[in-house]
Amino acid sequence: GKGILAVDESTNTCGKRLASIGVENTEENRQAYRGMLFTTEGLGKYISGAILFEETLFQDHADGESMVAKLEKQGIVPGIKVDKGISPYNDSEEVITGGLEDLNERCAEYAALGAKFTKWRAVIKIGNGIPTQECIDANMKALADYAKIVQNNSMVPMVEPEVLMDGDHSVQSCFEATAKCLKTLFSMLNANDVSLKGTILKPNMVVSGTEAPMQASVSEVAELTLKVLKENVPSDLAGIAFLSGGQSDLLATEHLDAMNKLGKLPWPLSFSYGRALQQAALKSWLGQGENTLSAQEAFSHRAKMNRLAALGKWAEDLEG
Ligand code: 13P
Repeated sequence: GKGILAVDESTNTCGKRLASIGVENTEENRQAYRGMLFTTEGLGKYISGAILFEETLFQDHADGESMVAKLEKQGIVPGIKVDKGISPYNDSEEVITGGLEDLNERCAEYAALGAKFTKWRAVIKIGNGIPTQECIDANMKALADYAKIVQNNSMVPMVEPEVLMDGDHSVQSCFEATAKCLKTLFSMLNANDVSLKGTILKPNMVVSGTEAPMQASVSEVAELTLKVLKENVPSDLAGIAFLSGGQSDLLATEHLDAMNKLGKLPWPLSFSYGRALQQAALKSWLGQGENTLSAQEAFSHRAKMNRLAALGKWAEDLEG
């Protein structure tokens, strides 16, 4: 039932999160914020891994101990985001993820610092005439090449094909785009001889576009997400940990719980949330040392609620 904390925001994205609470984007503030998260008492009861941005993997906590040591003390396995972000695909509005060129060399360095697993995020947009199969192919090929390099370096690849929620598309369009991505991804992983027993899938849930006039209900999201996974994901995959993608904290928990209540599946279905785990803590922290305990409580509460959801044991009245 444990999940993964995604705290691998690039320096730029971390700056946006800090700006939302009026905090300047300095290395010291990023260190203070992430150090506050990692020293949350009892976090290891709910979280088994944390995906870091490169800066954090190399960074010390303000007290001089490394960030990696802070996680390991809680029994949390450190991981690292290894992709180098997105750029336009063939000058179109679609995008492709880069970072393969020096990945092999970087992997050796990350492993030496204690990283046991890695993440690569492909971004697929839904819009007028997109996604194209060509762009899906290019992104899924990069994911499969990445996964092979990481396994060759004795780490676990987390493969993240994210179909974005942005737009006014229907839940059906999200289902179709997600199905195409997963089908292509597993065929390419297979072609690259990637061991699925040593791979984690980090997918989006099948949800309506954020601007869609008709929003799918919690039970529709749960049913369609399970359908797309059952139809496209081989049963020998090690596990599935969803991204939250801009869902509210509560919906991300409710959706995960609804899926796990629907019965037995070939893989554990857990969470690897960024925003849906951190939002409450960020708002409570506000960059003030005196708010550390209340921020850690808010963070710990969300982690606990999501652990219960990963076991299908969450209920609204537990939210307090
Ligand atoms: P969100 O849960 O905020 O989508 O972040 C997860 C993640 O790792 C995105 O790459």
